[in-house]
Amino acid sequence: MVKKGKRLQDSTLCVHNPGEARKFLGAVNVPIFQSSTFAFKNTQEVIQFQRGRPGLYLYTRYANPTVRAAEELLAPLEGGEDCLVTASGLAAITAILLSRLKSGEEFISNDCIYGGTFHLFKEVFTRFGIRVRYVPTTRVELWSKAVTSKTRALFIESPTNPNLRIIDLKAAVGFAQHHGLYSIFDNTFATPINQKPLSFGVDAVIHSGSKYFAGHSDLICGAVIGRKKDIDQARRMMLCLGGCMDPQAAYLLLRGLRTLPLRVEKHNENGMRIAEYLSTHKKVRRVFYPGLESHPQHDLAKRQMVGFGGMICFEVVGGVKAATKVIDSLRIPINATSLGGVESLASLPVYTSHYGFSKKELERAGVTGGMIRLSVGIEDPKDLIADLKQALRKI
Ligand SMILES: Cc1ncc(COP(=O)(O)O)c(C=O)c1O
Repeated sequence: MVKKGKRLQDSTLCVHNPGEARKFLGAVNVPIFQSSTFAFKNTQEVIQFQRGRPGLYLYTRYANPTVRAAEELLAPLEGGEDCLVTASGLAAITAILLSRLKSGEEFISNDCIYGGTFHLFKEVFTRFGIRVRYVPTTRVELWSKAVTSKTRALFIESPTNPNLRIIDLKAAVGFAQHHGLYSIFDNTFATPINQKPLSFGVDAVIHSGSKYFAGHSDLICGAVIGRKKDIDQARRMMLCLGGCMDPQAAYLLLRGLRTLPLRVEKHNENGMRIAEYLSTHKKVRRVFYPGLESHPQHDLAKRQMVGFGGMICFEVVGGVKAATKVIDSLRIPINATSLGGVESLASLPVYTSHYGFSKKELERAGVTGGMIRLSVGIEDPKDLIADLKQALRKI
């Protein structure tokens, strides 16, 4: 880890945080510790490990030096004391929530969240007696109605997937603190480069590291960042559930993180250019991008974000049929789910992130058939605009 002292800027942190790597023959990059288990000198050392002596490793599901290096980079980047990385974003959500809740208890979630998170809550948590109550994303003043004597936590995502609604972070933290709820924030869309929820008083941040952190659409991983004691608890849950990160994935994650600030800067720039273009197009009914002045929460987004990212959602005239035509006509953005990679991806939320939602669930999440979600990559925006133009001409 970088030497303690003045907190470094994000771009410095991302390239100068080799964890314990330097110990190993001075390697500049963190080696991949492709080992499931670790040898002890003798039983005394095993006992020392169990008593918490740092620098010792037992078994990769518990911890691994390559994996640890990723955690040591992400904790200060989000402004937390510690980090737990996991096999996926959903594994991160599961670890932190299950470490805080038990059967019979409840938590609150905003109503526009990633579809996979929704399915996890609906199909797993509910089955094991943990109830979720949904609240309107943009109306924190109404959230108190969902609080009962059993409510323990608040789970929120902003900007939301796919429609980029914004949660008032200050108000949400005030709400959670007032009701004694543990607050968890999904910061996947913004990344810590554009928004640092812990600095607003959120208790824990989670990420699907499969997205901007990885940056190259080549791995699945997740992270939870927060106070050390909370991360210790989440780690205990993760190692019981078994959702640990693989050392190869941790290496790729570290590699991706080195350029995170640079990439996000370009995503911000391209996102803005494309959103501006789409908002002038007559075949486009609505553009959801927090950087646009026309976004109903633009002022709020400006207060809590330093950039608006590369995620855009737009609704074309003509519903799902027209949206399908447009997406199938695109030549540069790849018709694929996921987001946050260097290459632009386009998807129809009704067939991907929100597939399987009932009509009512789609309505509550604010997802329509005519919506196209665009993860704007780092290509030349002129090429992307020309491509969108020809695709929109088809409807
Ligand atoms: C906002 C958000 N949170 C969480 C997840 C889940 O992450 P993973 O696919 O890494 O499990 C996703 C995945 O698309 C997401 O978009």
